[in-house]
Amino acid sequence: MKFSNVLPGVVAMNPPGVAGAEARKHVGEALTVAQPFLIQQQWDAYTDEQHAVWAELVRRRMPQLREHAAEEYLNGFEQIGLREDTIPNLADVNRRLGPRTGWNATPVSGFLPPDAFFEMLGARQFPTTTYIRSREAMDYTPEPDIFHDVFGHVPMHAHPVFADFLQHYGRVCARLMHDKEKLEKMGRLFWFTVEFGVIRQKGRVKLYGSGLISSHGEGTHVIEGKPHPTTPTAGASGTPGPEIRDFNLDQVLEQKFLVSEEQKVLYAVESFDQIYEAAQEAEKRLG
Ligand SMILES: [Fe+2]
Repeated sequence: MKFSNVLPGVVAMNPPGVAGAEARKHVGEALTVAQPFLIQQQWDAYTDEQHAVWAELVRRRMPQLREHAAEEYLNGFEQIGLREDTIPNLADVNRRLGPRTGWNATPVSGFLPPDAFFEMLGARQFPTTTYIRSREAMDYTPEPDIFHDVFGHVPMHAHPVFADFLQHYGRVCARLMHDKEKLEKMGRLFWFTVEFGVIRQKGRVKLYGSGLISSHGEGTHVIEGKPHPTTPTAGASGTPGPEIRDFNLDQVLEQKFLVSEEQKVLYAVESFDQIYEAAQEAEKRLG
């Protein structure tokens, strides 16, 4: 999976909606720089073909995820009411998600500059694309779409500790906008947790990062990749899987990555408390 920005989720493209006063009225009151990017999701405008693409994407991922996703992700999937057969209506998702953690999957119109992206995270509003990939791009989409953003990201927002972590992350980054170097380090923390995070549960490596959840290729690379010589993974065959290291903030902040290639290194946490504490520690060091 290739992303066009160091912080995936910043980019949206070709949404079916248009800028909506109603959306701004409800969710934009706390936002300033992000407000021009808010739209309404035109759920009724999705075609049967688009719902069918969603259904096929979900049905392809779920067998692997039921066995290899973090239990918190799977619980979140149920709690926010995602369905296999239709593209989610974000209003329905938010009616379930909001009372749990105060997070909102907020539709956005297009490219969000980093300050708008971080402002939204700090306000517990996840910028959510409404566009869905075409059938011709089932395996590869250059920018996040609603499948990546909602199927990949939003279930974790129902978990209280992850929810607190992500908001705090946004607030810390919003204060570092003036410092490109520090922001790049924070981008690595995002990458190795929110996008490509794994967690050890019951002795096994489980997926929770959206890039692993939403991409069959990336998820399979971790799950079925040949065990790395230094750190055996859950994999058993195929090409070499990524090296799974114990999560270490010092390493993560310095670990460069390529967005366009399968990941060579991932960092496994023991609990989600660990990433919450990492955001606090990063704030102390960089803030
Ligand atoms: Fe993402």
